[in-house]
Amino acid sequence: MTILVTGGAGFIGSHTCVELLNAGYEIIVLDNFSNSSPKSLERVKELTNKNFKIYNLDILEKFNVEKVFEENDITAVIHFAGLKAVGESVEIPIHYYYNNITGTLNLIDIMRKYKIFKIVFSSSATVYGMPKQVPISENSPLSAMNPYGRTKLMIEEILNDVYTSNNNWSIALLRYFNPIGAHESGRIGENPNGIPNNLMPFITQVAIGKLNELKVFGNDYSTSDGTGVRDYIHVVDLAKGHLKALEKVINFNGVEAYNLGTGQGYSVLEMIDAFEKVSGRKVPYSIASRRPGDIGECFADPTKAEKELGWKAEKGIKEMCIDSWKWQSQNPNGFLDKESIVDYANALA
Ligand code: NAD
Ligand code: UFG
Repeated sequence: MTILVTGGAGFIGSHTCVELLNAGYEIIVLDNFSNSSPKSLERVKELTNKNFKIYNLDILEKFNVEKVFEENDITAVIHFAGLKAVGESVEIPIHYYYNNITGTLNLIDIMRKYKIFKIVFSSSATVYGMPKQVPISENSPLSAMNPYGRTKLMIEEILNDVYTSNNNWSIALLRYFNPIGAHESGRIGENPNGIPNNLMPFITQVAIGKLNELKVFGNDYSTSDGTGVRDYIHVVDLAKGHLKALEKVINFNGVEAYNLGTGQGYSVLEMIDAFEKVSGRKVPYSIASRRPGDIGECFADPTKAEKELGWKAEKGIKEMCIDSWKWQSQNPNGFLDKESIVDYANALA
């Protein structure tokens, strides 16, 4: 069975490729490497000892994306390709709408033409906007607070409409909470461009000395210690959730949203503490004002995914911190370390 993975070179995509290959699926990766390195896919091959086709292609190039469907016998698609930086989406909204929404429309229109009706889509807990209560279940009210969030919400709505128009479709909308961690080998992980926006890569870059200190955005939320609470999930658990969702879309028609989270929230200060314990490094921090648009507390009710997909996160906060640190300490410059530059050139050749 061949699965097309769009955005497969990225953080979550590369970990999902490893799980797919290890489970015996054939994969094809389509990525334009706008936020990733071909090196990650070389490492996926190294970790699994399996080969697969890679299309260095922008999903906006509809004509060329169609060729991928012409040339391969694809059973289902896992669609990660998209831009994901909230702040950037406020600065260049048209680019975000174009990339995420037009990209998805291209993909599903081609899928329709080739009668491939099975898709697993990367949505986000951001579709819950400012949640009125936690834990958040899938039928909580939906809203968006920025262009990035609106692209996810709009794509969910588009996919719902697509199912209504043709009940042959099988669609899983996976609402991720906060993915962190890395493959336990330390060979693939999150590789942010420039200064990280997200907490865990910021913490690991402070710990390794690339950044001086962490700014904790607000300590006046109504949480146990006043700092923001999130549902951090190990990226390998998240990747495994995609395999369960894939089984679901392969075997049943319909459109369903699933929270992929642990159900457990941790505050920023708890995360710093957990990380310091496993790494033995100090993470200097100071309290700063709240980050605009941030919410105080966000964690999942993951029971629907457990009941309907048979999936449950297994890795705890300690493993998340160990693996994030292993990745960062073994690859201080992500995929652009000296050894990686040679491999990068080879991968592109
Ligand atoms: P990532 O940036 O590491 O991966 C996305 C991949 O898509 C990258 O390899 C990028 O090069 C590729 N891509 C982007 N636009 C493309 C285009 N036009 N054509 C072809 N390839 C393109 O991000 P990630 O963290 O792995 O996230 C994967 C998906 O999950 C995204 O859709 C993201 O919005 C969603 N998501 C991520 C998080 C998170 O915190 N990481 C949370 C919720 C949802
Ligand atoms: N934080 C800091 N300092 C930092 C970075 C983050 O204190 O330098 C805090 C935030 O205020 C928040 C927590 O750490 O309380 C987590 O922040 P992240 O930026 O790591 O994650 P968010 O929950 O804010 O955002 C993530 C994704 C978004 C997605 C959102 C909802 O990055 O794309 O989850 O799913 F929209």
